[in-house]
Amino acid sequence: MKEKYRFIIIFALLTAVFFLLISISRHNEKKKQIEELSEYLDNEEVAFALANNFKMEELRDFLDFDNFSIFYFRSYQRLKDDYNLTPLEAINLFHNPNFYSFYKNPKPALFLETPLVLVNKCYYLEEDFVPKGLVMIDNYDIPHYDRKGDEIQLKIATMDSLKLMIEEAKAKGHSLVVYSGYRSFEKQRYLYYEVYNENDDISARPGFSEHQTGYAVDISTSKAGLTYHLEKTEAYIWLKDNAHRFGFILRFPKGKEDLTGYQFEPWHFRYVGIHAEVIYQDQLTLEEYIIVNFQL
Ligand code: DAL
Ligand code: ZN
Repeated sequence: MKEKYRFIIIFALLTAVFFLLISISRHNEKKKQIEELSEYLDNEEVAFALANNFKMEELRDFLDFDNFSIFYFRSYQRLKDDYNLTPLEAINLFHNPNFYSFYKNPKPALFLETPLVLVNKCYYLEEDFVPKGLVMIDNYDIPHYDRKGDEIQLKIATMDSLKLMIEEAKAKGHSLVVYSGYRSFEKQRYLYYEVYNENDDISARPGFSEHQTGYAVDISTSKAGLTYHLEKTEAYIWLKDNAHRFGFILRFPKGKEDLTGYQFEPWHFRYVGIHAEVIYQDQLTLEEYIIVNFQL
């Protein structure tokens, strides 16, 4: 009988110690979690995370981003899982729901005056915006189409790289001609309304053309000009597979029309500098590259 009581008492004690240890470990774990969260969040936000039992291993992928808000964590996660996005992409898309919605509450252009500048049907330029540091093509010895009184101009980095690209193309036997570069708001207005009859698939509206940034250029052969004949030329095939080495990307590729909002344009290249390599290798549009890699 005595034996039995002793056993029960020992068992009860061991059970109590076991639960005590569990409780201490839980307490420590929570303390560590609060410490880690406090590096990123204020007290109210930490309390919100704890009250909702957010898991640290899931939160960690998101916490580093400046535009992360704990109050939308579940929404980010849902977007990420439903559309197979990266954490940053999910945060960006949640806070910029119109990122791919043409003309729906467009926002001012992103990354202005840098090779990453984003101008499209969702991001616009002001009427009086003229890029800094435009240079004239006549000073560069680059074959180009001459429009009297309307000389082709580009940002200096674009023009320098374009010259190198056209020289290398020439050395490989491809004669390229530059048809257009920088376009003012006013010129784009004329083209959109007077020439292209407000056709949004082929012409940008004034303020929505990246030609206004000085980083976009139309290139073709003298024979093909700005027509789809270009696509069939050796010159185009060379350009398509080499432009990235000079910092250029094919801006409106075939098969990505729903993302760019424009028909395939084999002649329209965009200077993006060091970003061209990944955009080319991963076959992305500028939009996809930006939303995956930068906080918007
Ligand atoms: N054709 C291109 C989309 C432009 O007008 O800028
Ligand atoms: Zn163009």
